[in-house]
Amino acid sequence: MPNETLTITDNRTGKTYTLPIEKNAIRAIDLRQIKTGPEDFGLLSYDPAFLNTASCQSAVTYLDGERGILRYRGYPIEQLAEKCSFLEVAYLLLNGELPGPDELDAWITDVTRHTMIHENLKKFMEGFHYDAHPMGMLMSTVAALSTFYPEAHSIHDAAVRKLQITRLIGKMPTLTAYAYRHSLGLPYVYPDNDLGYTKNFMNMLWRRTEPKFSANPVLARALEVLFILHADHEQNCSTSTMRAVGSSFADPYATTAAAIAALSGPLHGGANEEVLRMLDEIGSKDRVPAYIEQIKAGHGKLMGFGHRVYKNYDPRARIIKQVAEEVFEVTGRNPKLDIALELERIALEDEFFIKRKLYPNVDFYSGIIYQAMGFTPDVFTVLFAIPRTVGWLAQWQEMLQDSEQKIARPRQLYTGQPARHVARIEERLAPAVALAAVAR
Ligand code: CMC
Repeated sequence: MPNETLTITDNRTGKTYTLPIEKNAIRAIDLRQIKTGPEDFGLLSYDPAFLNTASCQSAVTYLDGERGILRYRGYPIEQLAEKCSFLEVAYLLLNGELPGPDELDAWITDVTRHTMIHENLKKFMEGFHYDAHPMGMLMSTVAALSTFYPEAHSIHDAAVRKLQITRLIGKMPTLTAYAYRHSLGLPYVYPDNDLGYTKNFMNMLWRRTEPKFSANPVLARALEVLFILHADHEQNCSTSTMRAVGSSFADPYATTAAAIAALSGPLHGGANEEVLRMLDEIGSKDRVPAYIEQIKAGHGKLMGFGHRVYKNYDPRARIIKQVAEEVFEVTGRNPKLDIALELERIALEDEFFIKRKLYPNVDFYSGIIYQAMGFTPDVFTVLFAIPRTVGWLAQWQEMLQDSEQKIARPRQLYTGQPARHVARIEERLAPAVALAAVAR
């Protein structure tokens, strides 16, 4: 049995400390005992952007970025995408185990019961400007849900928590579809609870005058797989936001709205929208080499490439590429695919990208599929938010039940002025006068 400790010698004092190592980590708080004297606060660890800091223990998602492995609750993402529905995966993420047939039926009934939204919330959405970005609409409307369900503040009551989780999962497709139709100026379509989760979503998006919407099964399955792939991704920016905001005991709607805000950024979920804009800008396959040179020269980033954790091919991108082929059988090939494939081919052979271990991520191909299905780019990130809500809620629930967690409150290394006295306004010289005084 190896000795699971770390010995540190503080060269300032010559003292030696032995810290326990647990799960390949030391506890940052153990560094606090390392002091130069009684007045010393103790040693801190400095880690901007949390490059090497685990902020929690989690049993939800396993990610090995070096080997390109992603598992939810121990199940490989490839098998979940092949064999499960999105709601089965949602149940797994939230409860730790896949549902049996009766549990799944009950879960589907619960979620389906919560697909409707209050008419006042619909009116709230009608108030948005005609060209409001759907992500902004979703963020605000999810926050507004908190005013409709004040009991949601009782976050320590397991039954109340479960109800809000079910509500949010049930309502996300409805809110998204309403935001989408608002941006197109189309009347809202109410949920059809005879349809499954994804098919009902497609109904709310695309139904026109037909009495019953019939979704193309290949496209419905593709959307289901995309939802499964996006459902969780351990401690990414939006999930960390969910945990940080939730740690103040804000209600789940306010907390989820904060996570949606984090997801909207172009370096995170907003990347799928940016990929499409980039492919539009490139325009044709023959212009790819020049575009790559521009990136290498430091002008912008190749959107949909690179990942903080994956330093090998993103396993989700591999599955998405297969899904793309199935979707294009139905919709016809999106011409952007050829530009994307060429971009991937050249980038993967280029020393710049090889050296930095930059591979296509989940956002590289998802937008091309969404566009082939008929979505406009400004809706892509909202499509990411629907399934990720499940991951956020699973992680939020885990955080609340973790007795080690407290309100998130990092430390800082202060770099400002030392203590100084405030001069009254008449004693302070105007900058120009002060400069002249210095010059004299
Ligand atoms: N294009 C060109 N160069 C890049 C890219 C890129 N997409 N990503 C990273 N680099 C370079 C970066 O400039 C740096 O170079 P150098 O060492 O010369 O300074 C090096 O690679 C390391 O990058 P980093 O910025 O330290 O990496 P990070 O872990 O902080 O950032 C990332 C990760 C995903 C934010 C970044 O790769 C990126 O901005 N990618 C483009 C946006 C994107 O596709 N985001 C979606 C991420 S996956 C899904 C999700 O999270 O929603």
